Amino acid sequence: FTGTARIPVVVHVVWNAAAQNISQAQIDSQVEVLNRDYRATNPDTSIVPGVFSGLIADAQVEFFLATQDPSGNPTNGVTRTQTSTASFSTDDKVKSSATGGIDPWPADKYLNIWVCQLGGGLLGYAQFPGGPAQTDGVVILHSGFGTNGTAAAPFDLGRTTTHEVGHFFNLFHIWGDDGTGCSGSDECDDTPNAAGPNFGVPTFPHVTCSNGPNGDLFYDYMDYTDDRGMVMFTTGQVARMQATLETVRKDLPV
Ligand code: ARG
Ligand code: ZN
Ligand code: CA
Repeated sequence: FTGTARIPVVVHVVWNAAAQNISQAQIDSQVEVLNRDYRATNPDTSIVPGVFSGLIADAQVEFFLATQDPSGNPTNGVTRTQTSTASFSTDDKVKSSATGGIDPWPADKYLNIWVCQLGGGLLGYAQFPGGPAQTDGVVILHSGFGTNGTAAAPFDLGRTTTHEVGHFFNLFHIWGDDGTGCSGSDECDDTPNAAGPNFGVPTFPHVTCSNGPNGDLFYDYMDYTDDRGMVMFTTGQVARMQATLETVRKDLPV
């Protein structure tokens, strides 16, 4: 395809305590964040120093809540499921009605986003392209989802979903997932080689792996900073996402 890819989204709200049954406004706020972040129209790119600003790239992906369900009937793109499970983990139980969650809509046609309680400080997790259809999509902690309702600082700007959807489109963490060594790679040429994840909102520059003077690109969505510190994808990351949309996930855009 050329131009912008438009991705139908289904949000599966799986709730135990009533507060976890998040509002439509909270869901809408997350879709808005995705649409700003994946078009690089988020105003907070202003925090990126000039030495890095040339790397900021528009992913040319747009997201919308599905208007047709898998049977072709009208939908608001949201499912709501009450569960007896107090807290989920990375074991994918939230992705099946047989294990306290709800099954995905066909993963070749929808981006499935499950929103639920997660344990162990987990904000979210994703499945990379090429995995089983029955577990494809992303899972997000309800209090790390969107910008209102149960969303809680410092993860209340919707960036957990931006980050997990980056994995869904085949992006790796910018430090290369090798612990804190300098041998891992995210397979993008334009992200500086970095040791390990950055947390909080670091002070520029943070030099690791001889990447001075500018240091780690901790402004990137694929680092681990607080939501207000992650504001950009690079040209190289966008190329990886576009390649995914032209191959493994080619049937996803409408
Ligand atoms: N999978 C990561 C985690 O659970 C997500 C990190 C998202 N970071 C953020 N600032 N929202 O830790
Ligand atoms: Zn991640
Ligand atoms: Ca590394």
